[in-house]
Amino acid sequence: MEKKVVELFAGVGGFRVGLNNVKLDKNGKTIEKNNFKFVWANQWEPSTKVQDAFLCYKTRFSKGNDDHEFSNEDISLVDKNSIPDFTLLTGGFPCQDYSVARSLSKEKGIEGKKGVLWWQINDILIKKNPPFVLLENVDRLLKSPSTQRGRDFGVMLRCFHDNNYSVEWRVINAAEYGHPQKRKRVYIFAYKNNTRHSESIIENTPEEIIFHKGIFAINFPISSNDKVTKKEIKDFVDLVEVSNDFEFSFENTGFLRDGIITTSKVYPHESKTINLIDILESNVIDSRYFLSEDNIKKFDYLKGNKRIDRISKSGHKYVYSEGKMTYPDDHNKPGRTMLTSEGTVNRSTHVVLDIITGEKRFITPIEAERLNEFPDNWTEMMSDKRRYFMMGNALVTGIVKKLGKSISKIIENEE
Ligand SMILES: C[S@@+](CC[C@H](N)C(=O)[O-])C[C@H]1O[C@@H](n2cnc3c(N)ncnc32)[C@H](O)[C@@H]1O
Repeated sequence: MEKKVVELFAGVGGFRVGLNNVKLDKNGKTIEKNNFKFVWANQWEPSTKVQDAFLCYKTRFSKGNDDHEFSNEDISLVDKNSIPDFTLLTGGFPCQDYSVARSLSKEKGIEGKKGVLWWQINDILIKKNPPFVLLENVDRLLKSPSTQRGRDFGVMLRCFHDNNYSVEWRVINAAEYGHPQKRKRVYIFAYKNNTRHSESIIENTPEEIIFHKGIFAINFPISSNDKVTKKEIKDFVDLVEVSNDFEFSFENTGFLRDGIITTSKVYPHESKTINLIDILESNVIDSRYFLSEDNIKKFDYLKGNKRIDRISKSGHKYVYSEGKMTYPDDHNKPGRTMLTSEGTVNRSTHVVLDIITGEKRFITPIEAERLNEFPDNWTEMMSDKRRYFMMGNALVTGIVKKLGKSISKIIENEE
């Protein structure tokens, strides 16, 4: 089996950077270990005309004459049968409303909400039948929506079950495993039940898989765990019933096989941290990264303790309160979660003390790239604002790199 990969919602290429341990040389040329062969990538940003992420992806990975490997189209408009065959599907996609309803038109059967990108992934699973899938999402996915806890992830697991996959998942906070950012994301690894890998791993109990033998337990060791809970998703008649009635407390790791979910809360094994000081640049001279007096005043307020009287839409008076944040950010801790608003005057933006001058400043775009373990200057072809935005959307590539080593061996063993 060749290690052919498709990257969906590719952004600036976090999965590819991680899986192929991508670097840039002194001249900004991409050095890529072609362990995984990326055969097709799709990236389309609905909110802007200029397609910065796609342009970055293509600039970094195109070798010329390979336009067919890079798609800049809304994924919902792509004919899934036109995607080349591949072994591993990767992608980081939004947490949306995954509920379904029975469709009025009989041919369609079941319908999800329009614009919900999970259905595009599901369509690819059906049409292209990839043996392996690696996805990334915000950890909130496990609990959504608040009115029916666990429904959305339940819908997703039932789709995998109906398409004959087993699934492992784990919420990973990158900083707890020696990466420079406190970024908590759920990683999902699914495999067809007829793969060798699936047949061999199933010799273990679900408990052994989630605590010891599964891809997450091997690469992200745990120190302890709570008791497991189980739930059958196969007993629901179909996806509509799951969507209407399924509710469950998914814990931070779990396994689905034969329609039975096993989940448990696990606690990470302590590892050495990488801190802000380890990724800060020591030669920042550009004045635009340093805070003006005016911005300092704004940050003092935004990051501080506050109680504000507010009136709700229904006219009810309440007090909105916010605690004080560590400000400036502690050099001796990993960075906080980067959002797409990084670099703007916003409560969640990092403010650091410059190593040389001791003055307050924003993190630089290079430091933002370092927080996600991208090569320095990966996104240099766009404005600073867009560079921060891209990093707010991207993932910590070192997590994917670790998983990639295991996935590589798994695929090699399929032959
Ligand atoms: C969470 S980000 C993934 C970032 C990526 N993993 C990276 O490392 O940069 C989701 C991406 O999906 C893209 N996207 C949103 N809607 C899309 C659509 N309908 N078709 C294709 N891509 C879409 C967004 O532009 C964004 O880059």
